Amino acid sequence: MDQVTPLNRWVEIGRLEDIPKRGARVVKTDAGCVAVFRTFEDAVYALEDRCPHKNGPLSDGIVHGDAVTCPLHNWVISFETGQAQGADEGSVRTFPVKVENGALFLDTGRVLRSASVLSAA
Ligand code: FES
Repeated sequence: MDQVTPLNRWVEIGRLEDIPKRGARVVKTDAGCVAVFRTFEDAVYALEDRCPHKNGPLSDGIVHGDAVTCPLHNWVISFETGQAQGADEGSVRTFPVKVENGALFLDTGRVLRSASVLSAA
């Protein structure tokens, strides 16, 4: 069961079938672009659409397993943690996303809170 707080703001962003397997879709938010990925097994993940290396568009990367390889210099980013894998160091923000009856929902409350924490830092 999802943890619901007054700060959750689930917004429907489309249908699972709108994203091809091993593909991504970009959702524009007030806090920047979020890449929503669908794995071959139909798991979905949402990450900030900016590689921690040099801001490459992760949504254009190659999805394999539970990770994406950046299209610019091949860093591998974990969907679960947002962390760069192997010897590379850095991370991107991850956001809650869920599927209900085939519809995709993104917690935009978490996206906006994450952005305000960054801007206040
Ligand atoms: S910008 Fe992603 S690996 Fe360089």
